[in-house]
Amino acid sequence: MKQFICKSCGKTYDITPTRWKCECGGVLNIVKDTPIIDVTAWNNYPNSIWRYVETMPFAKGSKTWESVTMGEGQSALIMLDPAEPTTYVKVDYMMPTLSFKDRGAAVLMTKAKELGVSKVIADSSGNAGTAIAAYAARCHIACDIYLSDQTSPKKIAQIKAHGATIKEIRGTREDIAAAAQKAVDEEHVFYASHVYNPYFYEGTKTYAYELYEQLKAAPDTIIVPVGNGTLLLGVYYGFKELVENGLITNIPKIVAIQAKNCAPLAHAYRTGEELAQPVTNSGTLAEGIAIAAPARSQQILEAVRHTNGTFMEIEEEEIVNARAQLSAKGYYVEMTSAVNYAGYLKYKQAPGEKVIIPLCGAGIKSV
Ligand SMILES: Cc1ncc(COP(=O)(O)O)c(C=O)c1O
Ligand SMILES: [Zn+2]
Repeated sequence: MKQFICKSCGKTYDITPTRWKCECGGVLNIVKDTPIIDVTAWNNYPNSIWRYVETMPFAKGSKTWESVTMGEGQSALIMLDPAEPTTYVKVDYMMPTLSFKDRGAAVLMTKAKELGVSKVIADSSGNAGTAIAAYAARCHIACDIYLSDQTSPKKIAQIKAHGATIKEIRGTREDIAAAAQKAVDEEHVFYASHVYNPYFYEGTKTYAYELYEQLKAAPDTIIVPVGNGTLLLGVYYGFKELVENGLITNIPKIVAIQAKNCAPLAHAYRTGEELAQPVTNSGTLAEGIAIAAPARSQQILEAVRHTNGTFMEIEEEEIVNARAQLSAKGYYVEMTSAVNYAGYLKYKQAPGEKVIIPLCGAGIKSV
């Protein structure tokens, strides 16, 4: 039986529907060996994230789980512009709920279904909540989503359409998470958290596997928007597994992008700290990455440092300008996803350096 292990104190726990953090307050990871990657097996599975199911910590050959899927993954990788032939965009906004969060939500809700839960609770700036609501609907599990009363109305409408109960909270992103966690503990239900539950990263790691298949190699650099780090950590762990299997030699350099108005991780990186100190969010258009106190800051900082990566901070007008420039090339992304294109515009790319720019949320989601 799989277990969780605390990142801070090393205590282990059985994976149960109600265990979501350590008694010491630390975040949990899954106890597992590096999966053996059998590339020849991939074609035995659907052309989606489930192509890589053998690398995910589900019981092999067991019928106790069945994937909760809507065909997520295998997003297009396109050259940004013929004038920049080594820069690619990966179009993850073309997903069932229009953001990359579907990768994690599909795997996390598959785990919830395997555990036999009847209700989940999640908190979100919008996209993760939308994805959890949709996949919960898909497997007939009741769902409450906690979010800010300032969340984009389109994201709220999308969540409601999937039948989830909306709990609107007035307060910071941290207040909203605290309200959800209180409800989880009081109601004894499954916390479908994209931040705390490590099964979410088992979904987002497919991002790395897909890039490896699409390029037939690893790229040099990935420029990732980061708030709680669910894409960043997925990318990191996916490439790490590919390295550990000898399929590639290096994990690509991770260039992590934060909005200057809410940049706790960038600050900790600059000052050499192991953990990010909470900051005050002074307001950013990039609502999806406005995370003042990221719970997995230590893991995120370790990952970026391990890849010889770096952090960049982006001003509000640079975000607006980047979205306009991407739109002029035909890609309409939400502000949270324009932020990393703004990072690319400032990044000093070496000649021939293969750079990936995730386009992770659809423009139609935020005004
Ligand atoms: C479109 C988009 N991109 C990037 C992110 C960043 O993800 P994370 O907060 O997990 O780092 C989010 C988070 O909501 C998002 O919605
Ligand atoms: Zn602990």
